[in-house]
Amino acid sequence: GPRFPQVVVLFGATGDLAKRKLLPGLYHLASAGFIPGCRIIGVSLDDIDADAFRSVARSALDAFFNRKITPGDWDAFAGSLDYVPLSAGPAALKAAVDAARASLGGETRLLHYLSVPPSGALPAVRMLGEAQLVEGARIIMEKPFGVDLASAVTLNGKLHEVFAEEQIFRIDHFLGKEPAQNILAFRFANGLFEPIWNRNFIDHVQIDVPETLGLGKRSGFYEQTGAYRDMVVTHLFQILAFIAMEPPTALEPAPISEEKNKVFRSMLPIQPSDVVRGQYSGYRDEDGVDPQSETETFIALKCFIDNWRWAGVPFFLRTGKRLAEGQRIISIAFREPPKSMFPVGSGVGAQGPNHLTFDLADASKMSLSFYGKRPGPGMRLDKLSLQFAMRDTGLMGEVLEAYERLILDAMRGDRTLFTTADGIERLWQVSQPLMEAPPPVRLYEPGSWGPKSIHQLIAPHAWRLPF
Ligand code: BG6
Repeated sequence: GPRFPQVVVLFGATGDLAKRKLLPGLYHLASAGFIPGCRIIGVSLDDIDADAFRSVARSALDAFFNRKITPGDWDAFAGSLDYVPLSAGPAALKAAVDAARASLGGETRLLHYLSVPPSGALPAVRMLGEAQLVEGARIIMEKPFGVDLASAVTLNGKLHEVFAEEQIFRIDHFLGKEPAQNILAFRFANGLFEPIWNRNFIDHVQIDVPETLGLGKRSGFYEQTGAYRDMVVTHLFQILAFIAMEPPTALEPAPISEEKNKVFRSMLPIQPSDVVRGQYSGYRDEDGVDPQSETETFIALKCFIDNWRWAGVPFFLRTGKRLAEGQRIISIAFREPPKSMFPVGSGVGAQGPNHLTFDLADASKMSLSFYGKRPGPGMRLDKLSLQFAMRDTGLMGEVLEAYERLILDAMRGDRTLFTTADGIERLWQVSQPLMEAPPPVRLYEPGSWGPKSIHQLIAPHAWRLPF
């Protein structure tokens, strides 16, 4: 953990992410002793006082912290919470931070967390500048880091007027997921798969993250973002980089970013004709949603990494709200054997190619599918699989949630699992043709797998889900 007690200034403190992840996460880190002391100052548009913020935090924990909350731990946590409404201005925020530092005593570190929609990021940064809460501070920024190339460049430029790049931690919580980091271990700690990890053996890759969740209370954020900005340009492309990158020279921030950014630089611009945008029926009737909204709640696309390893190998990405199942899988489809000696009708090939599948569930799961002989007379083949689940290993200790892990890394100043300004700007550049000419949204039924045209998009291959 970090060496010094932390003062956390949490913008968007009463928002959805704060309630679901950040307040429960900070509670866990504080109560389980991962940090040597902590004060949290909530900031948001809500004109409430510290006591009201404590009740917001308590309800958030009751709803989203799935372990026991002991009265002692809660009292300590509640005592560490303070609140400053945005309307109170920079001087009030400064005073609250000073008071928090004084109450912790000795050396402390300052961590700002901007859990706000895109339009709220710069005003918050400006306020921190005016409050003189910049020196020695770190700042965690939430995606989508702009809404297109121009706004991302502006955002980074304005951000750098106040904070130095070394102070900025752009969070992508998918990289904090244990199974995502396990992709790096799997690829680079084993000699078995690396030789076949390329266009000669891999037919295509799928990164598929359907969700059953709807909008919840997030229409304000979601109407500004949509599925592409919310999930693809952020999480899915980051995961794609872990799958596609060359071995880094070291497991350190600079070499890892370098290899990820090389993947992003090799990506071909996303063609609107390779994209299916969808919206679930009923979205336009939800609270806070424009009745004529063209925001997509679903997206599927095909993209290419045009380098020696991956040229010609399509990567299919899909994600959306209110779909049939909640899954987070990455599936590598291998090429089929050049020739089959098995009789027609024996079953070979009929159930698709060999797949290596990573499941980014809370604990790593992986499977490798292959054809094998069904016991009995003759030669009947079936698709079989080798299955691995980390939960069955006895290796699961005190697991940190993705956000907890990343907040702790930021408190320690470790940037390994954070993204960089140039990588993100490149991803917006790749996205530009789609941003300029998005295909119209197609309606889909809640509980389905998205608009029908997803099958044409992937043909002659097939979506791996549902299993
Ligand atoms: C968030 C998106 O970043 O990731 C949400 O804003 C999405 O829309 C969520 O539901 C998915 O994260 P997880 O960890 O539940 O897979």
